[in-house]
Order: sequence, then structure tokens, then C-alpha cells
Amino acid sequence: MDPYTSKVAVITGGSRGIGYNVAAALVAKGAKVVLGDILDKEGEAAAKELNTRAGKQVAAYIHTDVTKYKDLIALFALAEKTFGGVDIAMLNAGIAGESAGGVFTPLDDRADMLIHEVNIGGVIKGNKVALLHMAKRGKGGIIINTASIAGFSAMPSIAAYCATKHAVVGWSRSLVNMQSVCGVRVNAVCPYWCETDIIANPASDVARRFLEATPKTTMEYVVQAFEQCIEDSDMAGETLLVLPDGIHVQPSFIPPECCFTSEFLEKVPQLTEDGNKETKKKLAQAIKAAKL
Ligand SMILES: NC(=O)c1ccc[n+]([C@@H]2O[C@H](COP(=O)([O-])OP(=O)(O)OC[C@H]3O[C@@H](n4cnc5c(N)ncnc54)[C@H](O)[C@@H]3O)[C@@H](O)[C@H]2O)c1
Repeated sequence: MDPYTSKVAVITGGSRGIGYNVAAALVAKGAKVVLGDILDKEGEAAAKELNTRAGKQVAAYIHTDVTKYKDLIALFALAEKTFGGVDIAMLNAGIAGESAGGVFTPLDDRADMLIHEVNIGGVIKGNKVALLHMAKRGKGGIIINTASIAGFSAMPSIAAYCATKHAVVGWSRSLVNMQSVCGVRVNAVCPYWCETDIIANPASDVARRFLEATPKTTMEYVVQAFEQCIEDSDMAGETLLVLPDGIHVQPSFIPPECCFTSEFLEKVPQLTEDGNKETKKKLAQAIKAAKL
């Protein structure tokens, strides 16, 4: 079945860069998109451009600060009102720049936490709203989180950014059970460096020189990785690296043998089944409580 026609996607950080490019690709394949961002002028223009190109309404924009549940709920509500329910949620908004270093910045509670609130907080909050929306609708769905190569590598000059992207990887992998619980597949795309505005103002001179020297991946490969997450119905809890030479699956961590006794392994299937039952109950309660 065509995974795009009549499908509706919400995309945070959709006003420009990776978010906008994926939006344009999805629209070209027949999907509708709702863009959420804090760059309102660019977001409105982006939606207008997509609608003009299509000759009908295929896109909408709404101011969405991903650190705020209220905004994320409004993003999904607009998608539902304009195009029907959401099938695909791309939690992609992110920041780097000055705040990406994070080690010897001033000891300021609010300034220190901003990158964490946007890069991982925005993904967690967006995933929670998406799961409730999709589970309530009962048609399953696809969630794709934008992590980074920094979700696997250690990079001293952008330590805070690395911490947030490692967190996005851990969160996305941990939601592998959502496919069994409510038919929602959660995966993460982890690009290597790609020419967008986020790398235009690096955290330090060393970060700038590193970015100038390192090879880049292409926007084409990045977009293809998001499409792979949509098209491959077996993919759940996976991380796709987008490198200068293309897309690679980053295998999951397998704990060493000493973590698996035969008695423990025997219990795993039952524990998994019971865990899913427990999670389904919690999901039903959460849907009632959230009143979306
Ligand atoms: N470009 C790269 O080299 C690269 C590599 C790996 C991962 N990424 C990730 O890709 C994602 C998209 O980045 P990009 O490269 O397109 O850069 P970008 O700066 O062009 O796009 C990021 C978007 O997120 C938006 N945003 C920032 N804070 C927000 C908030 N609080 N609420 C809503 N939107 C907010 C920005 O306004 C912007 O439109 C980010 O998560 C970034 O960390 C980028």
C-alpha cells in the first residue's frame, strides 16, 4: 500500500532545513503536512510555498514551541482539524550554537537547560502527545525522532549537544514496544553533518574548524532516511545513521553474555508479554486523563 497518499504528517522544526526538506518530499509523494516551529515568518512562507506548488492545500503552519505541551497539543489538533488525524510525527526541532558546548558556560539554571529542554524535552513531550493522539485514533502510526551522529560519538567541543542526542537515541530505542502496544513504530534518524543553518554558528572556534574540515552528508540522503522509516513496516526502535556515503543501520547494543543466565532468558517472553499488558493499561488511563 502507498505509505504517503492521504497520510498526514506533523513536523516540528519544519520552517527550514531538514524539517522543511522532508515536508516537501512527503508532499511531493502525496502526503499532507503541518509544520510547527518558532520561526513564524519562515514557517508561514514554507506552508504557502508547498500549497502554491501543489495548487491546493497540502500544508499548514502553526507556532509551536516544542518545550510546551500546550503548543504540541495545538499542533496535533490543527492537523486533525485541517486534514484528519496524524499518521506520521517527525520530532525534529533542535538547537546547537552557543549552548552546544555546555561545560564552561555560566552556572545559569535556565540558560544551561535550554538545549536539553528543546533537543530531548521537545522529543519526549512530542512523542507522548503523538502516542496518545495515534492510540486514541486507533490506526497506528509512525514517529521519527531526529537524533544525530552526536547520539553515538563523543565530541568534547559540543558535549551538551552530544548528551541531548544520546538521550534521543536511548528514548527512541526504548519505545520499541509501542509497535505491540498501539501499532506505532518509533525510530530515529541520526544524520552526520549536513549543510543547514544549525551548523552556521558553531559553539567555538574549534567546532567551526572541525565543521569546515569534516566531510558532510547530503540533504538527499537525510530525506531518504526519513522515507525509509516510513516505508519499512518492520522498522521499530531502530537508529539510521546518515553518513557522507549514505544510510546505515546502527545496530543496537547487546549486553555481554554475563547478563543472560538461562533462567533469566526463560522468563523474558512472559515478562515482555506482561510488560505490554501493563503498558496498554497505562496508555488507556493516559488517554482518559489527557482529554485530547
Ligand atoms: N544539520 C546537521 O548537520 C544536523 C546533523 C545531525 C542532526 N541534526 C538535527 O536535525 C534537526 C534539524 O536541524 P537542521 O539541521 O534542519 O537545522 P535548522 O536550524 O535549519 O532547523 C532547526 C529548526 O528547529 C527550530 N526550533 C528551534 N527551537 C525550537 C523550539 N523550541 N520549538 C520549535 N522549533 C524549534 C528552528 O527554528 C529551526 O527551524 C535538529 O534536531 C538537529 O539537531 C542536524
